[in-house]
Amino acid sequence: MTKKKILVTGGAGFIGGNFVQYMVGEYPEYAIYNLDVLTYAGDLTKHRDIEKNENYHFVKADIVDYDVIIALFEKEKFDVVVHFAAESHVDRSITNPGVFVSTNVLGTQALLDAARQVGVTKFVHVSTDEVYGELDFDPTTFFTEDTPLQPNSPYSASKASSDFLVQAYHHTYGVPINITRCSNNYGPYHFPEKLIPLTISRVLNEEKVPIYGDGQNIRDWLHVFDHCAAIDLVLHEGVNGEVYNVGGHNERTNLEVVNTIINTLGKSEELITFVADRLGHDRRYAIDATKLEKLGWKPIYNFETGIAQTIQWYLENKEWWEQIISGEYRNYLEVKSTYL
Ligand code: NAD
Ligand code: DAU
Repeated sequence: MTKKKILVTGGAGFIGGNFVQYMVGEYPEYAIYNLDVLTYAGDLTKHRDIEKNENYHFVKADIVDYDVIIALFEKEKFDVVVHFAAESHVDRSITNPGVFVSTNVLGTQALLDAARQVGVTKFVHVSTDEVYGELDFDPTTFFTEDTPLQPNSPYSASKASSDFLVQAYHHTYGVPINITRCSNNYGPYHFPEKLIPLTISRVLNEEKVPIYGDGQNIRDWLHVFDHCAAIDLVLHEGVNGEVYNVGGHNERTNLEVVNTIINTLGKSEELITFVADRLGHDRRYAIDATKLEKLGWKPIYNFETGIAQTIQWYLENKEWWEQIISGEYRNYLEVKSTYL
């Protein structure tokens, strides 16, 4: 029997990597194709345990390169696309917006064109709550799927542009799509430039932890395994053309998050250093995921359990993040501290 072919873009990154592992484990009847160009954020060592699995295939390719993408689609005739590949870090988008437009906008358009030409049964576009802009600190307000898009950073503007393209390809050409908009993820293999893994690695190395501004900005944290389960559900049950928000009501200020990590590791809060604020720093994100819950999704992790397990994972997988920090990423950190 021919296996259903699922193309996962960005499967060497944080969330895409967890999703590839999840799908290979959950669906032996599917063939999973991980397409990734391996930027600084892509790393295949996380897939060592599945690299010889007959249901797993890796393709090194750039989503922006349409000729390569269309040739691949024509050869493999994918049934489904789950599109994670992106430039994902807001700070990098502030210092270098161009690559965000290229990858996130043009790359998405190249994939959509290939999906339109060759035909797929579903194109799941993994987007972000940041496309909605920011909320104030009123705890009764949330982003719903009807909240107008008002992106503030070059990153979120590029993601919103890609969301619009996905919706346009559905409306104009009938490409079957879903868009998911998830809040901040955390968990294994989170790249150590982002707040949670950066804090864990720095605290373990007794290094200063930079908090932007006053540390009162709020993010709504979701364990990456809960996000993977949400995408699985949307992939199989999502109504054609619909957008689904993903989030688990775990709002925390950045200072609370950093203090939780420091206290769990039994270190001193004196490691915290307040630095200049991120330009255009969004104050608060908070997701209303009622629509997805009605489809049958429910998060499993609360933040306290999830963060404790994540800290443990970083303790047990030091070699993974140490090899990242010691390499090119270290140079990036030096550039970044000049900017701060
Ligand atoms: P990440 O930066 O960890 O991984 C991105 C992956 O995409 C990397 O493996 C990279 O090599 C690959 N990639 C980048 N440019 C590419 C290109 N031109 N061609 C092929 N591959 C390319 O990102 P992440 O945090 O795992 O985010 C994955 C997706 O989820 C993104 O689309 C992001 O916008 C979205 N998202 C992230 C979060 C979060 O909290 N991290 C929350 C909501 C949505
Ligand atoms: O909301 C979903 C988004 O979450 C995703 O779309 C993005 O891809 C992902 O990177 C993440 O964006 P954020 O900007 O919210 O994540 P980051 O970890 O970079 O920052 C989280 C908060 O912590 C934010 O308010 C900025 C702050 N921060 C971050 C860093 C790296 C600090 O105070 N100090 C830091 O050193």
